[in-house]
Amino acid sequence: MDSQPDYSPGLEGIVAGESAISRIDLERNRLVIRGYDLVELTDQVSYEEVAYLLLYGDLPGRGDLDRFNDALRSERNLPDQILDLLRQAPASVHPMALLRTGVSALSFYDAEAQDNSREANVRKSIRLLAKIPLLITAGHHLASGREPVAPRPELSQAANLLYLLRGVAPADYEVEAMNASLILYAEHGYNASAFAGRVTASTQSDLHAAITGAIGTLAGSLHGGANEKAMEMLLEIGAPEKAEAWVLEGLRQKKKIMGFGHREYKRGDSRVPSMKKVARRIVTQSGESRWVEAAEIVEVTMDREKGIFPNVDFPCAYTYYMMQIPIPLYTPIFVSSRVAGWAAHILEQNENNRLIRPNHIYTGPEQLQVKPVGERGS
Ligand code: COA
Repeated sequence: MDSQPDYSPGLEGIVAGESAISRIDLERNRLVIRGYDLVELTDQVSYEEVAYLLLYGDLPGRGDLDRFNDALRSERNLPDQILDLLRQAPASVHPMALLRTGVSALSFYDAEAQDNSREANVRKSIRLLAKIPLLITAGHHLASGREPVAPRPELSQAANLLYLLRGVAPADYEVEAMNASLILYAEHGYNASAFAGRVTASTQSDLHAAITGAIGTLAGSLHGGANEKAMEMLLEIGAPEKAEAWVLEGLRQKKKIMGFGHREYKRGDSRVPSMKKVARRIVTQSGESRWVEAAEIVEVTMDREKGIFPNVDFPCAYTYYMMQIPIPLYTPIFVSSRVAGWAAHILEQNENNRLIRPNHIYTGPEQLQVKPVGERGS
């Protein structure tokens, strides 16, 4: 028998590539994006500036930012055929499936869909950044029998998303909360969806294909889908005084507690303190502290029982809930942000490409004899 190569289930600890986009700094428990500390970005800039940083490599100057915002605003529209597609979808379809299909279908109407040059890929990324919030919210309204809300060009990405959802202008504190969550969600290294995007790009497939694959990968509950599952769990818990017993019983039944744990961070997700700060600001405005209190008890119990900490999906989940965002839109909103990170990974992969094609250990049988079909049993 051949000697077996090194194997790490789930590729844990395997270095699968090089990247200048972001780094999880475990020693200082922080995330660095193109040299900038994510916490500082979250406190000081707009999501648009972070998207620009991801696409172009550094923060924009005033003129660059104005041009970037103009480009985003001019792309806030959907082809009629895409609206028809959304209209025809069964109302029961999960918004992530609708978004995945919508992004894939947008390639039909993008004249540069097959152009893999850096310039075309940046333009397509900007178009997706502008159109994804429209796909999410139009799909949401149409599924409930309402017409989509038209975008307001003067609004930021964060404000526009909330406006498209509600049809009324959001309060400043809500825009700040959405802006912060979009920044915290924008990029996170070689995570499963970024890797899926890079694998697709490495075959020289197009940007829409790579983003579509990344959306499908993010949807799962072990990745981006965890924010929806975490809120469903909090709703099942129902009240702070029930949280400890619920977690203990869940752990006894060997349940995964959604919004907890992380492949990289073992002492806590560096994005969580910023997201919790946002959640506390929402509580100050709304006066409703039930979910933050229940979440705290879940956290304390998980730390005591398992030494496992929340990831950013946990505080994001109850923050979005307190902002009255429908739960099935939490992961699509994550997409509306992470598309900038994925685009940066796809651009980077294209710049120094080598087909991603790993090995595996074969565990099946050998040397079977082929029998005629009639001799193979039923
Ligand atoms: N609840 C309960 N136990 C958990 C847990 C959770 N959320 N996350 C990890 N664990 C436990 C596992 O059961 C396992 O215990 P064991 O060694 O006794 O079997 C141990 O911690 C290691 O977990 P494992 O699933 O092997 O780690 P991983 O690196 O493969 O997985 C996640 C990381 C994120 C997939 C995992 O923590 C998880 O499923 N979390 C819940 C989903 C989630 O929030 N995803 C969003 C991630 S940002």
